[in-house]
Amino acid sequence: MTEAWRPEDDEPRGASGPVRVRVPAKVNLHLGVGPLRRDGYHELNTVYHAISIYDELTARRGDTLTLTMEGEGTGELALDDSNLVLRAAHALAGYAGVMPHARLHLRKQIPLAGGLAGGSADAAAALVACDALWGTGLSRDELAGIAADLGSDVPFLIHGGTALGTGRGEAVSPVLARPTSWHWVVAIADGGLSTPQAYRELDRLRETGAAGPPLGSTDGLLAALRQRDPRVLAATLGNDLQDAALAMRPSLAATLKAGEAAGALAGIVSGSGPTCVFLTADAADAERVAVELEAAGVCRQARIAHGPVPGARIT
Ligand code: C5P
Repeated sequence: MTEAWRPEDDEPRGASGPVRVRVPAKVNLHLGVGPLRRDGYHELNTVYHAISIYDELTARRGDTLTLTMEGEGTGELALDDSNLVLRAAHALAGYAGVMPHARLHLRKQIPLAGGLAGGSADAAAALVACDALWGTGLSRDELAGIAADLGSDVPFLIHGGTALGTGRGEAVSPVLARPTSWHWVVAIADGGLSTPQAYRELDRLRETGAAGPPLGSTDGLLAALRQRDPRVLAATLGNDLQDAALAMRPSLAATLKAGEAAGALAGIVSGSGPTCVFLTADAADAERVAVELEAAGVCRQARIAHGPVPGARIT
């Protein structure tokens, strides 16, 4: 007996129309940096948090692999094979054994080299979008495995929410927290900072005894996340890379001071900087702090955001 013919047998797998994926920026509520490892990375003990500033990647069928973009960083960001979006598409195609053919378009709102993991977010979006476009149907864990080879933050941006990151940051596990929305002000600086340089600067500061004491355990922060009080959370935020970012960009001290003077509960440098993020008591306070930060002229732009939000998702 022959099997019945089904119309879908002759159709290519995957989506025929465009696939649009939205992916958030990340901040580190706690970024504990351990010693430099032999592979050139530092051992991390971090709590990632995805916030509502998004990039969007649209994938369409094509005869080759191309990338175009608009928004933040247009004209600055290379669109050749060094771009993490194209590296992600190639990595997925290689893993799944398909041709890496797609027309990709990126709409960026996350600044380049800002400490918000914008490039990593775009790579996560490319994995999710191409997986749907090509019908490769990988699990989130399989995608996270490919993501880890692309960058330490990429697996987190597949998952989103609030999560603990260990290893070099690529080993991610969700954090148990009350379903609370936290209100942030994100002060975006002019220009970026290099992440490898920030880590090198921290090593140098530690060697010369000029760095502050390391943050240590995430226990205090994790306990604060189980409560609903932003004041409690504010007291536990911390970033070992902050001293390095301040040494490389001393003007960030004025940004942090201005945010706290405007009524933020706490301000920290996000990741390797230069973006500074401020926790506020509620949405109205966030609006006020953002207006004051912009008026003080201590950042290029102040945006409000909330978190946690999901990772890379098809819209
Ligand atoms: O993993 P990713 O490519 O995003 O990291 C960029 C750079 O940041 C690394 O090349 C390394 O210099 C530094 N880094 C580090 N330790 C980590 C993560 C990143 O030293 N855990």
